[in-house]
Amino acid sequence: MVNLRPNLGGLLALALFSTGTLARVCKPRDVPITYEAEDALLTGTTIDTAQAGFTGTGYVTGFDESTDKVTFTVSSPSQKLYDLSIRAAAIYGDKRTHVILNNGAASEVYFAASTSFQSVPAGQVLLHAGENTIDIVNNWGWYLIDSITLTPSAPRPPPQINANLNNPAANSDAKALYAYLRSIYGKKILSGQQELSWANWIAQQTGKTPALVAVDLMDYSPSRVERGTVGTAVEEAITHHNRGGIVSVLWHWNAPVGLYDTEENKWWSGFYTRATDFDIAATLAAGPGNANYTLIIRDIDAIAVQLKRLQSAGVPVLWRPLHEAEGGWFWWGAKGPEPAKELWNLLYERLTVHHGLNNLIWVWNSVLPEWYPGDETVDILSVDVYAQGNGPMSTQFNELIELGKDKKMIAAAEVGAAPLPDLLQAYQANWLWFAVWGDSFINNVEWNSVETLNTIYNHEYVLTLDEIQGWRG
Ligand SMILES: *[C@@H]1O[C@H](CO)[C@@H](O)[C@H](O)[C@H]1NC(C)=O
Repeated sequence: MVNLRPNLGGLLALALFSTGTLARVCKPRDVPITYEAEDALLTGTTIDTAQAGFTGTGYVTGFDESTDKVTFTVSSPSQKLYDLSIRAAAIYGDKRTHVILNNGAASEVYFAASTSFQSVPAGQVLLHAGENTIDIVNNWGWYLIDSITLTPSAPRPPPQINANLNNPAANSDAKALYAYLRSIYGKKILSGQQELSWANWIAQQTGKTPALVAVDLMDYSPSRVERGTVGTAVEEAITHHNRGGIVSVLWHWNAPVGLYDTEENKWWSGFYTRATDFDIAATLAAGPGNANYTLIIRDIDAIAVQLKRLQSAGVPVLWRPLHEAEGGWFWWGAKGPEPAKELWNLLYERLTVHHGLNNLIWVWNSVLPEWYPGDETVDILSVDVYAQGNGPMSTQFNELIELGKDKKMIAAAEVGAAPLPDLLQAYQANWLWFAVWGDSFINNVEWNSVETLNTIYNHEYVLTLDEIQGWRG
């Protein structure tokens, strides 16, 4: 393996000449290091030179078997975070590849179709001191790999989070919560759990209770109530609030009408696109007066009743309706971004202006810019991530920094695997909170072992219920 340390001699001489001080140039902190693929270890792959524009003496191709790969050995003077980029040519169309650091979990990198070699951002890698390996492994194959470049990640500048909530009439409970969240953002993470019963289960396993509990207004959806459901989420939220906790609320909004209610798609799956032919685009286009539009308003008003119970009980709510819209698997996202954003605006207007709900902090839950309803109705950004390995989810965090221009705090509103605090800090993935989904995730060793939960819940970086007492100030 060739040791490709950067040659700093020239840089040093140049800097000395221009500044005359050695101190300025001693740390080669931000110098990118490039490793040529043709110098790396090839497994089932070959070196070629037919495609012009490569650097060095060639590039690597022939990723056709699932085990085919190129292994780069890279070194770091200390444990350190780097931005990784891959110089590649996807000359046969859009492709995906797998990147594996030190034989650990694979991350996926997308190469847009191109006729020449391009440098593609490939996320961040945390290298340990000494030698590390980075594998690029066959995924879709049919791409040419020229080189990789590692650049030490710049430290995050301090965030510039908006001082106030969007709603000018926000009540003192919501303002107090928002002020508290701002005070901890970037310094600590709030532990969180979906459902009160699972939060209490965590207390039994770890001796610590989550700071935040998330509940679901699903069973207050009129099309479920008609079929006999009885919601308990409001009581659970008040219980957690009364013990000094923070509450987040989502709503699996069962479609008001058009439920298939078949063997495969029961009425209680009615928030899924696959379970209803309810058409939000047509309904919004038809507007007030249309029977289905009236049903939408009826449903929002029913949910307002529940949110008012929370407001009366003094509970500020991290309110996350229309979650995962961009996924398209829920009916509110099934017709693309425009109806989803319009429905968000309708919800915002109906709940804050019409119903005077001033205890809500509005949490948006998609990443893509074309889905974003806008800064004026969104207080906090979030995303749901289901990836095993208890990783920091830094790719999604970085995407949301971009979306909110670092003016909105960012939450991991639903995760399958709770993130390990040491990795969060190393990757500067400063999520405001994480909340693990309930049954079959929090209690499933493939996602979260009890040992890992103990590490997380007893870590100084992670805030638990006992540590946030008095957040109202
Ligand atoms: C309301 O939605 C249902 C379910 O998609 C549909 O069958 C019906 O035609 C719609 N009604 C109106 C008035 O648009």
